[in-house]
Amino acid sequence: MAHAQAGTSEGSLDKGKVVITGGAGFIGSHTAIELCAAGYTPVVVDNFGNSDRRMLERVYELTGQRFPLHEIDCRDRAALRRMFEQEGPCFGVIHFAAHKAVGASVAQALDYYDNNLGSLISLLQVMNEVGLQNLVYSSSATVYGQSDELPVTEQTQVRPGESPYGRTKQVCESILIDTAASKVPVKAVLLRYFNPVGAHPSGRIGELPLGKPENLVPYITQTAIGLREELTVFGNDYPTRDGTCTRDYVHVVDLARAHIAALAWLDNSPENAQRGSFHEIFNVGTGAATSVLEAIQAFEKASGTKLRYRFGPRRPGDIVESYANVDKARKVLGWKAELTIFDAMRDAWKWQVGLKNDPLR
Ligand code: UFG
Repeated sequence: MAHAQAGTSEGSLDKGKVVITGGAGFIGSHTAIELCAAGYTPVVVDNFGNSDRRMLERVYELTGQRFPLHEIDCRDRAALRRMFEQEGPCFGVIHFAAHKAVGASVAQALDYYDNNLGSLISLLQVMNEVGLQNLVYSSSATVYGQSDELPVTEQTQVRPGESPYGRTKQVCESILIDTAASKVPVKAVLLRYFNPVGAHPSGRIGELPLGKPENLVPYITQTAIGLREELTVFGNDYPTRDGTCTRDYVHVVDLARAHIAALAWLDNSPENAQRGSFHEIFNVGTGAATSVLEAIQAFEKASGTKLRYRFGPRRPGDIVESYANVDKARKVLGWKAELTIFDAMRDAWKWQVGLKNDPLR
């Protein structure tokens, strides 16, 4: 059943199919839009464990393209095989499908390991069977933990993970690195995302947290719309410019475009054509640090609303400061973030307001 990898040529209109696991999720759905814009055909694989199929309906509306969807759990190898058989030649895979809540991963550690490692292992095995090598993997800056070195480069030492979720990302990176060095051929691009935020500028797709959000931006927008009483800022006694933690918030549309840049690099770089198996790691952030208070100010300015917040104790396990050195992505992939925290807040707010009138969950 092996079939050749789809050949693509620079400038051609149809660049071939790209399977996106977790394609109905937050980053996956935005990436589907960018894939269409770049001339690829997305093939979405999702088990809808933490996503909504109506999100895909909206992606169809936005792109005007009704691309294929397969309701599959990536751990189901037979189903993955059938999917590849049905779809025929593909250019590559972007693997998003994973559990992602830091807090929940503590109580559900085994489930996190099973899902996040199991999906990747099964995907790599089936890709090998069908002769597909190009893979873009959704990793996280969480692998760095609290680094002594700022900004964080791809060479910065990886610290022991802070949560079962973080450790699954570290183990998945090791699985990819070891596989690329083994006799199973794979060309793996590992993208270490900093803090993905924002929404599509149309306001039609965005983040859909299950229950009470853990992350700052959905908590802010849910508070402003009246779903939450107030935001608690976790700690204002950190050794930072205003006492609150800093992060590198990257707009989800920029982040989605980083995947397209990675695919284009896999496709067009002459060195990659010569190389056998390899893995390459890239930071995906803006290169700028924003504090929690600065994020709140950006939200207030972008939305024209006042946010109710108070200072509370530090959140256990929070890192103090994190931001990326993004030189490698810029030089090698020709990618850099174009959008700001203001853009992200404006779009996240538009999405939240739109959800009130047309709820998805
Ligand atoms: N924060 C608050 N109040 C809240 C929520 C968050 O003050 O209600 C603060 C946090 O203390 C932190 C900042 O906002 O200083 C960002 O917190 P998030 O939870 O939004 O993001 P994290 O940086 O903790 O975690 C994110 C992703 C993880 C990923 C990590 C990578 O959620 O999946 O970045 O560094 F692993």
